[in-house]
Amino acid sequence: MKQEVTLAFSGASGAAYGIRLLELLVHAKVEVSLVFSTAGLMVISDETDIKLPANPQKIAQFFTTRFASSPDQIKVYSKDNWYSPLASGSGAPKTMIVCPCSTGCLSAIALGASDNLLERAADVVLKEQGKLILVIREMPLSAIHIEHMLSLARLGVCIMPASPGFYFNPQSKEDLIDFVVARILDQIGVAHNLSHKWGKE
Ligand SMILES: Cc1cc2nc3c(=O)[nH]c(=O)nc-3n(C[C@H](O)[C@H](O)[C@H](O)COP(=O)(O)O)c2cc1C
Repeated sequence: MKQEVTLAFSGASGAAYGIRLLELLVHAKVEVSLVFSTAGLMVISDETDIKLPANPQKIAQFFTTRFASSPDQIKVYSKDNWYSPLASGSGAPKTMIVCPCSTGCLSAIALGASDNLLERAADVVLKEQGKLILVIREMPLSAIHIEHMLSLARLGVCIMPASPGFYFNPQSKEDLIDFVVARILDQIGVAHNLSHKWGKE
């Protein structure tokens, strides 16, 4: 059976993590459903060389071409598409990664707001007891953020702060991005050759 993942971009800094993650998921033949918050699209535009079209189908075409994916391997849903498979436990992938994850998105998920498709998709993965990974980026953290992380971690959510290690002597921004992306791929059992595994070299 093909591996399916929902990848969501919210409006935290670190869009490059999500873009690189998408590239590697595609190369690993994973089927990817994408959803973006409004701020998530703004951050992609601000922080990367990517200028996404507005239409979800055109976004799918853009990434299909950029990453040479199979037709239909990448699907894109607008944030108010409540008819998307992501909006229901009967159709949604059992694995979802929010990368990057803003503190606003973190709080919405922790409180079950479900106010857009991204938040609803996370709520669905939670209720279906699937695997939810939140790649949080903020500093410093307030007690509100920490309490939300704790309540979600107690439900089994994997909280993965975007905090690359420096013990592997990174030479570039790409090395730092790959460090974080490698750890995410490890979490969902997708093989990669991105970075050394501690104690194995
Ligand atoms: C360029 C840019 C960088 C941002 N960086 C962060 C960040 O690192 N962490 C964060 O929690 N919010 C960050 N924000 C603020 C969020 O985008 C904002 O709180 C937004 O309401 C989050 O909405 P969303 O969770 O629906 O994406 C940033 C916004 C912009 C425009």
